[in-house]
Amino acid sequence: MPDGAVGVLHRGGAQVDVGRCELGPVRPGNDAGHAGCIATRIERGVRHGLLVLLAAGFAACASEPTSDMAPTATVEELMRSMIDPAADAVWDAVVIEATADGIVETRPETEGDWLRLRRHALTLAEGSNLLLIEGRRIAAPESRSELPGIDLHPDAIQELVDEDWDGWVEVARGLRATSGVVLDAVEARDVDALLEAGTELDLACENCHAVFWYPGYADPRPAPPGND
Ligand code: HEC
Repeated sequence: MPDGAVGVLHRGGAQVDVGRCELGPVRPGNDAGHAGCIATRIERGVRHGLLVLLAAGFAACASEPTSDMAPTATVEELMRSMIDPAADAVWDAVVIEATADGIVETRPETEGDWLRLRRHALTLAEGSNLLLIEGRRIAAPESRSELPGIDLHPDAIQELVDEDWDGWVEVARGLRATSGVVLDAVEARDVDALLEAGTELDLACENCHAVFWYPGYADPRPAPPGND
């Protein structure tokens, strides 16, 4: 809403004409600005009070969240449903196998093969961005380590991530950068580069897993029921 526009606040079903709002844009669901506007009107003429209220209004605006992202999936679900399938597609795209019939080589052949790979590379890159959203749970509450004593319990992973968010961000960015290398190889239709990017991709996954998932010490928590 431009400066000086007329706004109406709905609060508890009642409509309150807030008159001319001088506190900048008013967004649905954000009462802070409206409250400032109402108060501004009531206090109109009281110069000192008005200044204080304006300052309060601006402070409220400044503390508005800048991001509207709200995680839905857990990290475990992102891995299973998005990141792992996309990575598998990259790794399976170039395979050289020694068989009884000799060397059998799989590689992208058609334009369709390359376009599918491109989608997977994009999924990896954007999936990395999703790992950077704060507040995402590691796993559902009922989820358990599949290899207790080797893999950490999700709550232990959560603690590690909370303690070292910067470290988490760094390895997630590493995955994003490597996804870019995969994408470049795909754009260049370069099978050798794709093979190399696949090796790099494996390392990018490990860089996170080895620190946050199976850091090499046994889970200090007692084995959860049903897992022994
Ligand atoms: C920024 C950290 C991070 C990166 C990068 C990462 N992972 Fe993970 N991944 C995790 C964590 C944490 C778990 C453990 C979640 C759990 O199951 O409790 C996990 C679990 C998994 C699982 C097991 C999911 C399940 O069913 O329990 C697979 C599969 C997996 N990751 C694949 C990958 C692959 C493939 C890559 C690279 C392309 C990758 N991850 C990159 C953090 C990461």
